Amino acid sequence: MRSKIVAGNWKMNKTLEEAKTLTSELIGMITDEVKGNVKVVLCTPFPYLHPVKQQVGNQARISVGAQNCSEHDWGAYTGETSAAMLKSMDIPYVIVGHSERRQYFGENGVLLAKKVDKVLAQGLTPIFCCGEPLEIREKGTHEQVVTDQVKKSLFHLSAEALQKVVIAYEPVWAIGTGKTATAQQAQEMHAVIRKHLSAKYGQTIANEITILYGGSVNAANAKELFANPDVDGGLVGGASLKSREFVEIIKAIG
Ligand code: PGA
Repeated sequence: MRSKIVAGNWKMNKTLEEAKTLTSELIGMITDEVKGNVKVVLCTPFPYLHPVKQQVGNQARISVGAQNCSEHDWGAYTGETSAAMLKSMDIPYVIVGHSERRQYFGENGVLLAKKVDKVLAQGLTPIFCCGEPLEIREKGTHEQVVTDQVKKSLFHLSAEALQKVVIAYEPVWAIGTGKTATAQQAQEMHAVIRKHLSAKYGQTIANEITILYGGSVNAANAKELFANPDVDGGLVGGASLKSREFVEIIKAIG
């Protein structure tokens, strides 16, 4: 049985005080209302990782994650944060290859393969993002483009390493636009990704990989998206900034 995960990607939002308020609201609501085995990951801005982690304490269901890391371990890379540093802070998850990193910071498949390696080398879990821009969806080549992204950054991994990766399919046209993929579009792409994982690593391993959907997930559409057999949870941006909305999304996985 693969893990079910709902991860909140806070992006570059919230002051420290606001981050603490959101965290304490989430801890209360999740403790009271969320049943079952879903794991919750709060991907905060770097400066808030430590305080949010302190606040979460040893709540088994909630983990803290970073939104990016360097492809280097240590050294003269001003402004960067390495997977080794995250490991030293006991941060178990790292988003790698979010479309905003690809689009605004020029991150490509080769670089992202290095980042995935660094995260895995520290024993942390990469949440590897893939997804096609609108023009690719309109051209109808989205399956090809997304599988190429997955192959370029993950297919050098051993089967053992791949099993530690979480994949997030996030169509770029659905991110922050309020225009979500339909449940059918999400399921189709997740099934395609799993088919390619199976062709390379075998059905058993492919069946164990958690694949999240991301792109305008909210409390109203989460249930239908998560009901798909190949959708194992969500990577949630805007709606993860509001405690009530985010908790309703977590509960939708039920
Ligand atoms: P959104 O963002 O939920 O605001 O569309 C998702 C993401 O970028 O991970």
